[in-house]
Order: sequence, then structure tokens, then C-alpha cells
Amino acid sequence: MSAKVICVTNQKGGVGKTTTAVNLSYYLAKDKKKILLIDFDPQGNATSGLGIEKTDKAALGTTMTEVILGAAALSEAIRPTKYKNFDLAPATPELANAEVEITGMQRKFVRLRDAIRTVAENYDFIIIDLPPSLSLLTVNGMIASDYLLLPVQTEFYALEGVAQLLESMKLVMKQANPNLRLLGVVATMYDKRTSLSAQVFSEIEKYFKNLTFKTTIPRNVRVAEAPSHGVPVGAYDKFSKGAKAYKEFTKELEERIK
Ligand SMILES: Nc1ncnc2c1ncn2[C@@H]1O[C@H](COP(=O)(O)OP(=O)(O)O)[C@@H](O)[C@H]1O
Ligand SMILES: [Mg+2]
Repeated sequence: MSAKVICVTNQKGGVGKTTTAVNLSYYLAKDKKKILLIDFDPQGNATSGLGIEKTDKAALGTTMTEVILGAAALSEAIRPTKYKNFDLAPATPELANAEVEITGMQRKFVRLRDAIRTVAENYDFIIIDLPPSLSLLTVNGMIASDYLLLPVQTEFYALEGVAQLLESMKLVMKQANPNLRLLGVVATMYDKRTSLSAQVFSEIEKYFKNLTFKTTIPRNVRVAEAPSHGVPVGAYDKFSKGAKAYKEFTKELEERIK
């Protein structure tokens, strides 16, 4: 077994990257796939969203900061979550400093890929949650991945910046990782009470055609509440619309990868 690596990216913040990374990981694990979620955003939202206190650095131990600096192996940062088949490599704000430090280092673009190769045999999927930028961390994420998953919020300016992201992706493909593929676009925070969501969704479909996932993720208060309890929405309220949507989306994604 060698893991399929999926990075979740969009340089816009607040579009549902972390929520999608956490809940996709959760439902893949529920489907008996061995999962590693790598938090690669200095905000550490995937880390705290899984109930891991990111401010107590001593208790936290090794994180992606040490891994990317080459001071620790990725295996040392990995720990189990509360959920079967679901491991996490956490991030803290220090990862932002590490990003600056590696700028001056050798092999600065392939550090995450090299780290992932050391554990890829242990997993079915490795999901990377990326920061809201086209930064060195994001480029590391793209170079380390087989697939790029793009969450797009069904709001005004949804596709703003997307062309630029696709340009970066193309550049990565040309220079460093020809295997990278756009896995698809998932519409998030869909509000069926407004015509705007439907309008934006059809815009997304026009642009991305059949790369658009059929399943949309609704705006749902249970999805927003779950991280403050340190759990994925599926563990918080599995009957909520948000949980059901992420479960359905995970199924569609697995079909697509087959
Ligand atoms: N489907 C949803 N319904 C309601 N709130 C959501 C939904 N998806 C994400 N959120 C909330 O929106 C905010 C941004 O989501 P997040 O996943 O952190 O975005 P990103 O990682 O792209 O910055 C968070 O507070 C999150 O809880
Ligand atoms: Mg995030």
C-alpha cells in the first residue's frame, strides 16, 4: 500500500478547507481506510478542531514545525486521534517561522514530499490541510500530492483567485510534480434558501464542468459548532445535514479516485 496524497487548497481563507479536510478524513477512516491528516497551516485549525490543544507546546511534543525543519521525522509527529484508522500530524503557529527558515534551506520545495515518503506505506490516504495562501508551504503541499481538492464557497467572488491557483498548480506540474491532478471542486456553505448559492454553483459547474462534485456541503450550524467541541461534525451530530453531506461527499470522492 502506498497512500494517495490529497492536498486541500484555496488561497482564500474561510472557504471550508479545514472543515473539509477534517470531515473527509473522518469519513474515510469510518470507511476503514487508514488516514493521516497533516495539518500544514500555522493556524492549526485542524489540530484544535480535533481536540488537540495547540498552545501547550510542551504537551504537544513534535509537530510539523520540527518535521519541515528536518529536526524530526514525520513519524515522531504522528499521533492517533480518538477515531479508529485516523492519525494526525499537528501544527502550531511556529510553523510560520519554520516556513521563513526553510526559505534559505536546500530542497525547500520538496521537504514535505520527502517526509511523506517515509510514512506513505502505512496509509491509504494522506490528507494535507493547507494555509490560505500561495506560499512555500502550499507549494510543498502541491509537490507532495497526487491530487488537489479545491473547496469553493458558494458566495460572491467564489472564483476569485481560482485562476491564479490553477496557474500555480500548472507550474508545479511542469517543474516538479507532473502527477498532480485536480481531483475536483466541492461547493461549501451552500445555502438553499438563497438564489445566490444556486447561481454560484452553476457558475462553478460552468467553469469546472464534471470536475465539480455533485454533492454540495450546506451551510449548517452543527458544522460550525463541532470544532469548538474538538470533534468532526460526524462525531458531534451524525444526523445533521452537514454530517450527511460530508459522508455523501466522501463516497463520491472515493468513487472518483477508484
Ligand atoms: N458547511 C458549513 N456550515 C457552517 N459553517 C461552516 C461550514 N464550513 C465551514 N464553516 C465555518 O466557517 C469557518 C471557516 O471554515 P474553515 O474550514 O476553517 O475554512 P478555511 O480552512 O478555508 O479557512 C469556520 O468557522 C467553520 O467552522
Ligand atoms: Mg483552514
